[in-house]
Amino acid sequence: MTPSTRPLAIVTGASSGIGYELAKLCAQNGHDLVIAADTASIQSAAQDFRDLGASVEAVEADLSTTDGVDRLVAAARGRPVAVLMANAGHGLGHGFLDQDFAQARHVVDTNITGTIYLIQTVGREMRGRGEGRILITGSIAGFMPGSFQAVYNGTKAFINSFSFALRNELKDTGVTVTDLMPGATETEFFDRADLEDTKVGQAKKDDPAMVAKIGWDAMMKGEGDVVSGWKNKLQSAIANVTPADMLAEQHRKMAEPGSGRA
Ligand SMILES: NC(=O)c1ccc[n+]([C@@H]2O[C@H](COP(=O)([O-])OP(=O)(O)OC[C@H]3O[C@@H](n4cnc5c(N)ncnc54)[C@H](OP(=O)(O)O)[C@@H]3O)[C@@H](O)[C@H]2O)c1
Repeated sequence: MTPSTRPLAIVTGASSGIGYELAKLCAQNGHDLVIAADTASIQSAAQDFRDLGASVEAVEADLSTTDGVDRLVAAARGRPVAVLMANAGHGLGHGFLDQDFAQARHVVDTNITGTIYLIQTVGREMRGRGEGRILITGSIAGFMPGSFQAVYNGTKAFINSFSFALRNELKDTGVTVTDLMPGATETEFFDRADLEDTKVGQAKKDDPAMVAKIGWDAMMKGEGDVVSGWKNKLQSAIANVTPADMLAEQHRKMAEPGSGRA
């Protein structure tokens, strides 16, 4: 088989939601794909992207583990990575003391440990070549203490901060880092985090295709960060000048179990 001349993109969490739409944009814009998620649903997503003309390797791996990340990177078979979209992540509702610790740890290990291990592994290869684009899915949740999603919001505060720091470290290397910070988006996130009976879980949310396109455009322009949507821009601007205890109280109203209508 002749080796592909298309650039390669790695997209994590591409089986649904924002990651699915990000991977679709990569395929539509001429990239081959290595995609990953931790369940078999990644295989049907892979078929969708093949139908768009991409050559696709789909990896089922738990990206909270370094082994899972190693398996994902191995699936690129040494091809240079033009685009890395470190998007996989999940939340966890309920009060922290009522959460199962293994589940809370899985949030940290997926959203932080696996994410930064992947970025370090692929980022070194990009820096060696002097080119590459990295998009990380942070969140406006990183601007506010997340009562009843405390661990998740903490991980996104980490990611937002990490993204800016890494971008600065890489500023003269040809590698760009873009932090996509969505607000509440219509994906499987809220169901998976057991937040469906909360106000935020039941609120109208952004379209994941729109969010992904905003991230894609910002990444292609080499921008440092982008908050998707004007309402979220306003919310994050207000969060920057609001005392943390007030933000925590506001978050309680959105995320406390039973705060929704149902
Ligand atoms: N939805 C929102 O309101 C919102 C707002 C701001 C930021 N975000 C961020 O956006 C990113 C994508 O989330 P989404 O909203 O699109 O939710 P989603 O529809 O639940 O998609 C999450 C994706 O990540 C994968 N994933 C989660 N944990 C994984 C693990 N340990 N190993 C491998 N794959 C894993 C899931 O795969 P499986 O289905 O196979 O588990 C799925 O493909 C996350 O980082 C999330 O924090 C979401």
